[in-house]
Amino acid sequence: MPTFDVQQFRQQFAFFQQQPEWVYLDNAATMHKPQAVIDAVTQFYQQYNSNVHRGAHQLSQRATTLFEQARSTVASYINAQHLHEIIFCSGATAALNQIAFGLMHTVLRPGDRILLTQLEHHANIVPWQLHCQRFGVIIDVVPLTPDHQLDMAAYQQLLQLKPKVVSFSHISNVLGHIQPVADMVTLAKAVGAITVIDGAQGIVYQQPDMQQLDCDFYVFSGHKLYGPTGIGVLYGKTEQLARLTPIFAGGEMIDSVSFINTTFNKLPFRLEAGTPNIAGAIGLSAAIEWLQKYNNQQIVQHKSLLLKEFYTGLTAIKAIDILSSSVHNAGIVALNVDSEHPADVAELLNQQQIAVRSGQHCAMPLFSYLARPGAIRCSFAAYNTLDDVNRCLLALEQAVEILTA
Ligand SMILES: Cc1ncc(COP(=O)(O)O)c(C=O)c1O
Repeated sequence: MPTFDVQQFRQQFAFFQQQPEWVYLDNAATMHKPQAVIDAVTQFYQQYNSNVHRGAHQLSQRATTLFEQARSTVASYINAQHLHEIIFCSGATAALNQIAFGLMHTVLRPGDRILLTQLEHHANIVPWQLHCQRFGVIIDVVPLTPDHQLDMAAYQQLLQLKPKVVSFSHISNVLGHIQPVADMVTLAKAVGAITVIDGAQGIVYQQPDMQQLDCDFYVFSGHKLYGPTGIGVLYGKTEQLARLTPIFAGGEMIDSVSFINTTFNKLPFRLEAGTPNIAGAIGLSAAIEWLQKYNNQQIVQHKSLLLKEFYTGLTAIKAIDILSSSVHNAGIVALNVDSEHPADVAELLNQQQIAVRSGQHCAMPLFSYLARPGAIRCSFAAYNTLDDVNRCLLALEQAVEILTA
């Protein structure tokens, strides 16, 4: 297999052309956008700006066509069976809130159980919690093994409690560990649970196949897939989407309205109240079309090479406490320098124009479990280079010298 041409890939990003001095390792937070995405969004605003689904004029018709084409691009990218199974929303957080709210009003009853895992992002904890408290639903949590992987034996035991919903992330946003999602879905389905996958970090690692994975819901944000912020996708199987009570109500999602009775529109519109993020959907579609010009296997290989070099370098630096495992890792590494505050380490890196994130990464329950106050997180994307890895390692070495002197 030919190797991935990282320089050619990197050239597509105006950010790196204009600010080559930056080492950007905060990709799990958000990714840079290729020119193809910036152009698609700009072109929409310059040439077709208009609202969708409602105008009699050509501009609106064009905007509607582009918006619906975006739905089709997403549907075929994740191999959804039907176009109406793609619900546009503002991101993974919005999608998870819609699912939790929607199921709580229709499917879940007091005393029912839902199953989450110890390493979830707050977006896959708090929406459930908010409604569980109100509706008397019980949350169980899958623990981790000593090497911080999901404890699959405990998962199987907890499934015996017959949860109505099982919701877990595809890839941990802190540790980078890739969860065995296919097995997890199969096991959950065997006890009749509805399966929800938080694909916020998974979507950029692997092109997920909804029909093969057979989960009930899969959610992600466009901005972690080289797309714009403010656009995301809630994928759901038709019969499961039909069970969701809409979290938002208003224009577009109705069929008819009177003060006596309101009837609702068909999917996907029933779950897309109000004016959608039209430019965002068009930008996300452009990101997917652009990304499909590259071979994902080559990208995965490139990222694992960066990860290998990073781990080799890290293990040679004294005082580094690595929280992520290097196996089953999608390219995210959480670490600390001794017991130094992660914000101090991140600031020393920032002074050398190396962008990482520090703190608890919206995963406080995971950090309680790890018994660490936080960590810095270095997350790699396809546009990162070996030079980025080496600059980060050197800066970490210097940080260790400064902080532990
Ligand atoms: C695993 C995971 N889930 C959910 C989210 C929430 O995504 P957003 O803030 O784009 O809605 C994130 C964001 O970092 C994440 O990493």
